[in-house]
Amino acid sequence: MKKVLKIILASVLFIFIAMQFYQPALNVNKGRVYATDFAKAYKMPAEVKKMLHKSCYDCHSDNTNYAWYDYAQPVRALVENHIKNAKDDLNFNEWTSYANRKQERLLNSIKKQIETKKMPLPSYILMHKNGKLSDEQIKLLTNWLKDQT
Ligand code: HEC
Repeated sequence: MKKVLKIILASVLFIFIAMQFYQPALNVNKGRVYATDFAKAYKMPAEVKKMLHKSCYDCHSDNTNYAWYDYAQPVRALVENHIKNAKDDLNFNEWTSYANRKQERLLNSIKKQIETKKMPLPSYILMHKNGKLSDEQIKLLTNWLKDQT
């Protein structure tokens, strides 16, 4: 019995280590300036810009601020999956390249997601306390968004 347990533990450890070799490209483009960025499209208070960067850009842009634990599998795969799905729907860096109708739809969607606390993803907030928006911040953001539509 003890031997079986040892084999199982060794296998788990082996799988865990083997998983670490799977490291897809990082979602990082440091220093790149995006003329099409959301922040360039609107006049926005510095506070709004800061909140979006802190709470949304990790998934919805080409630059993720990775935490140290994001590098370890299987977390890494999960994070990259979130980023890919998030960017497919909305990439703040590419905002002005979207058609007007898409921008309008997204502005409403962004407001709704923040209002209903669906975004930032609850699982993200759990690991990134900084990304959490207070009720006051939510009000400030959604009021600003309302004025843009
Ligand atoms: C941890 C990653 C993550 C963070 C942080 C995050 N999102 Fe998302 N977001 C996603 C994912 C993943 C999807 C796609 C959900 C799906 O496909 O079901 C998504 C979808 C959306 C959508 C839907 C787009 C559409 O087509 O209607 C909006 C809007 C959105 N997010 C806004 C935000 C805003 C605003 C913030 C910050 C307050 C934010 N998100 C933070 C991961 C994230």
